[in-house]
Amino acid sequence: MHRLRLATDADVRFLADVTLAATGAQGRLPADFDEAAWRDRFAEWTRESIEDPGTELYVIEVDDVGAGRLRVSRTAEFVEVNGIQLHPEVQNRGIGTAIFTVLQSEAARSGVPLKVNVERDNPDARRLYDRLGFVKIGEEGGEDVLEWSKAAEQNRLWNADVAERYDTPGVGMFAEDVLGPTVQRLAQLADGGRALEFAIGTGRVAVPLSEYGVPVSGIEFSDAMLEQLRTKADADTIPVVTGDMATARIPGEFTLVYLVYNTIANLLTQEEQVACFRNAARHLSPGGRFVIELWVPELRRLPPGVPATVGTADPGYILLDTYDVLKQHVVSHHFHFGEGTDAQLFRTPHRYIWPAELDLMAQLAGFTLESRHADWTTTEFTADSPSHVSVYRLPS
Ligand SMILES: C[S@@+](CC[C@H](N)C(=O)[O-])C[C@H]1O[C@@H](n2cnc3c(N)ncnc32)[C@H](O)[C@@H]1O
Repeated sequence: MHRLRLATDADVRFLADVTLAATGAQGRLPADFDEAAWRDRFAEWTRESIEDPGTELYVIEVDDVGAGRLRVSRTAEFVEVNGIQLHPEVQNRGIGTAIFTVLQSEAARSGVPLKVNVERDNPDARRLYDRLGFVKIGEEGGEDVLEWSKAAEQNRLWNADVAERYDTPGVGMFAEDVLGPTVQRLAQLADGGRALEFAIGTGRVAVPLSEYGVPVSGIEFSDAMLEQLRTKADADTIPVVTGDMATARIPGEFTLVYLVYNTIANLLTQEEQVACFRNAARHLSPGGRFVIELWVPELRRLPPGVPATVGTADPGYILLDTYDVLKQHVVSHHFHFGEGTDAQLFRTPHRYIWPAELDLMAQLAGFTLESRHADWTTTEFTADSPSHVSVYRLPS
């Protein structure tokens, strides 16, 4: 178990020791390294950091024992890691990844990027940042400047290629027997008012709902998905704000907010999912509804010791879901292939949610559950239903 605690003057020596141990183990200390002079400069700089109101200097503790050093600055424009060192004895245990994941989630919540500089002679650190989705945005001396943002990550995930292949008119999720009942039920739940779709995508539902007579607006992160929507409906017909459905605001008051096709699970932390419910409530008039379409986690299909399930194995397409049950994460691996041996892989990470947890999130945002059905035609929801359409309502 690791935890962070704010450093004090009493930690200066430890912080120097751990920095030396980490840098030395990577073979990155210069041949003419003057340890005494370095320790004096480091101590002075550490004391300044402890007093600096814009910076937090932490001791990373593992099992209650000091094991690392972390320095973070926070401004209105970004969160920045100004240094992280872990003692060699605790490296490769996922502690760095866990710390950065928490900081990514903090940055996402604040709607700002997370920045870090990495020395060009530190390939281990660079590999970690690449894996976490950081991209290089510049150079400073011997360092690369890296940045991660939720918007950039979603744009990478939902890029032009994916957006162009997304629509399958008349087939699959675009089939009339899927969209017809969806649109009719949403129109009924909008109750004569305006609807807002979170993560509107290419307008799979929004376009036919708008054509059905319900005024629809949207929030969407991906520019490429939005570009596809714009080939079907202009900004006067379906206004869209580019942003995060957990935080972004769009003008107007709505009687219905809806979030379909399992997309609440694209928010990867419980905090962001709760924020999404609160954001829905903010956009609704009294008595307004928030509708969620979501699958029921398929953990019953996981045999002990097997971390993955095969969702589909059709000619040309295989869906493999890999689970991290501790984080409540599932990554869907979509393999598309033809006759030959080549395949295309598209991966989407999700945080799965049980119906009961979803209801609690709703409660935190002031909603109560009005109905839960197995589908858009109000089929009864049972213990065997693979997914559900849940309707939450604000008090009138
Ligand atoms: C599976 S698609 C669903 C699109 C559409 N709702 C539909 O039913 O076809 C997921 C969409 O969610 C968007 N998305 C993911 N996370 C988002 C977020 N935090 N805020 C806004 N849009 C997001 C993606 O860009 C993508 O367009």
